[in-house]
Amino acid sequence: MSEDWATAALGRALDCVAARLGTAGYPHVTQGGQWVTSADGSWTGGFWAGLCWAGYEERGDQQFRSAAERALPPLMGRASEPRNHDLGMMFYPSAVKGFQLTGAPRYRQAALQAASALAAQFNEAGRFIPGWGAFGGEDWGGSVLVDTLMSLPLLLWAAAESGEARYREVALAHGATSLAYHWRADGSTVHVYHFDPLTGAPLGPGTYQGLSPTSCWSRGQAWAIAGCAALARLGAGEQYLQAAHRATSYYLGHLPADGLPPWDFHASGPNEPRDSAAAAIASYGMLLLGEALPPLWEKGVACLRALAEAAQAPPGHSSVLLHATADLPHGIGVDESTVYGDYFFVLALQHLNHKLTGQPCPARWGP
Ligand code: GLY
Repeated sequence: MSEDWATAALGRALDCVAARLGTAGYPHVTQGGQWVTSADGSWTGGFWAGLCWAGYEERGDQQFRSAAERALPPLMGRASEPRNHDLGMMFYPSAVKGFQLTGAPRYRQAALQAASALAAQFNEAGRFIPGWGAFGGEDWGGSVLVDTLMSLPLLLWAAAESGEARYREVALAHGATSLAYHWRADGSTVHVYHFDPLTGAPLGPGTYQGLSPTSCWSRGQAWAIAGCAALARLGAGEQYLQAAHRATSYYLGHLPADGLPPWDFHASGPNEPRDSAAAAIASYGMLLLGEALPPLWEKGVACLRALAEAAQAPPGHSSVLLHATADLPHGIGVDESTVYGDYFFVLALQHLNHKLTGQPCPARWGP
């Protein structure tokens, strides 16, 4: 069986990545259509390495591998950051993937170090990994972000790899807190839930990149879907499958006809910027979920196809996906491109193509 559109979309996406392999720095978001790069990888450098690994995986081309290997050392220097809930997002697609593909002990070591630093941030009183420490002039040490679910697979990988049970305990404790406080009855999710960092007492919902404490930020919803889907397949428990399913039902129930979500589901006027990155992350999550819940496989394929039609950039463009919104409230990357949108689009296409051709499916967060 084949889906020609998916093969073509993946080919065009990897051509786009190939054309950028020699660029200095890590692509982060575009501004006026031009990539803004970071020297240290910000929170997104792992996705650039992941795109390079994906090209190597699909094409066996050493230029992709060399670019991934060049992207890793600066990130590896950040593996012990003490206030960084994105360590899993940074190190799963870069170092774990690099270890899986090359067997290099240095990548295994870096990924384990990042897992150790992530677990060390666990707040025992509140049973969560905080989003940030001091950030934007405020203490966010009691803030818990729905995004962090996507970092937890690193801890489950590290527990299995090292035999250190603590990593799994922290992942499951944080996950339980997230499921309890981020999910609303209708399946939508809160972006940030605030706790007292000393006592762990719950204080109430908030947001940083979304519209309001009571709204549903689209990328957060997508992290909820994909994070829980990845955790479920890593054996974290049936509750993650159910939570992902509920979040997916909300997502699909509020998706415009063209398949591109508004940047926040409560900002749904006709001219609100869309977020193709949220669509890519959610589509990937649905494909993962579809392995356990088959009707969601078809939904994931349909969402991915709609995304390719609505937002894949034409050949020769410097990014894979158009129409992503990184952080509208702070005026960053509105109707632009993001490296994480590009990465999850490629990952989802890889996953789909491998499944359709019956080949082992290396493109996933999990075993
Ligand atoms: N921390 C992940 C995000 O901003 O989406």
